[in-house]
Amino acid sequence: MRRALLSTLLIAALAAHAAAAAPKHGDRWAIGMSQCNLGEPWRVQMNADVRRAAEAHPELAVTYKDAQNDTLRQRSQIEEFIDADVDLLIVSPKEAAPLTPPVAAAYRRGIPVIVLDRKVLGDAYTQFIGADNQRIGRAAGEWALRRLLALPQVKATGRAKIVELTGLMTSTPGQDRLAGFHAALRGQPVDIIFTADTQWLEPRAREEMESALAVNPRIDLVYAHNDPAAHGAYLAAKAAEREKDMIFIGIDGLPQEGQVYVRQGLLAASFEYPTGGREAVESALRILNGEAVPKQLTLRSRVFTPENVASGGDWLP
Ligand code: FRU
Repeated sequence: MRRALLSTLLIAALAAHAAAAAPKHGDRWAIGMSQCNLGEPWRVQMNADVRRAAEAHPELAVTYKDAQNDTLRQRSQIEEFIDADVDLLIVSPKEAAPLTPPVAAAYRRGIPVIVLDRKVLGDAYTQFIGADNQRIGRAAGEWALRRLLALPQVKATGRAKIVELTGLMTSTPGQDRLAGFHAALRGQPVDIIFTADTQWLEPRAREEMESALAVNPRIDLVYAHNDPAAHGAYLAAKAAEREKDMIFIGIDGLPQEGQVYVRQGLLAASFEYPTGGREAVESALRILNGEAVPKQLTLRSRVFTPENVASGGDWLP
């Protein structure tokens, strides 16, 4: 009798698990991928990384939506995925606060949500995947300081002059890359003489750098929160024939972008920001199969310089 009850319970438990581990529509898992923007090479790479990883799993059907850098469009695209009752959502949000409610709505409806690269507020999502932007900012600050203190004009005057071109400051990587960099430079003989929000965009960075050049006869280093902005700043300095007077550093380190700038000598360093596309698909499979995943998956990052780029860069400590 007891044994019969136990086996009934076991069968019920197995059935419940099997029901949970079955796609809601048809025989493939429907995954919605909400990308904030496909304007930068880095985001094109993220989608390509998701696509390549998903192609190896015929049980996955991924639908992509591109919000074209428009927060309201991304909100409604996430709502469309909720209405379609997808099995799982991957969201790379443009901004933290305005994308928090639709992500939370999906999560509360029982749709697992993987938040990729930029964060939302609170904890109403299944997993966050991304590199540690504060750590990257701090590594960039420490690296910059070492280089700056060795410059003749800094030795002569006792202080260094930095231009900081930030990412979109309503997105968490911008906030964290700034905080980490500033923490590394606290108490050091360094002045941030110009700062501007480039919104992650190369043309904006170029314009802002033109302003920085116009009012600052001496700039020792430009810290840009992404490689497109670093490149925009470099082009502005080059047009003013001042690019050789300063050091440029950026973040992303894509093989086809930042690493090329480093090889060409435009950037003195690019810090890798992995897209997490492959890891998102791996997590999605685990979640869909009923496995638990950690709330946060932190990806490692490398620094690429002219000295190490050919050998694959150096991992950040
Ligand atoms: C692309 C991008 C990257 C940057 C990331 C931050 O849109 O600006 O260059 O590293 O987003 O979320």
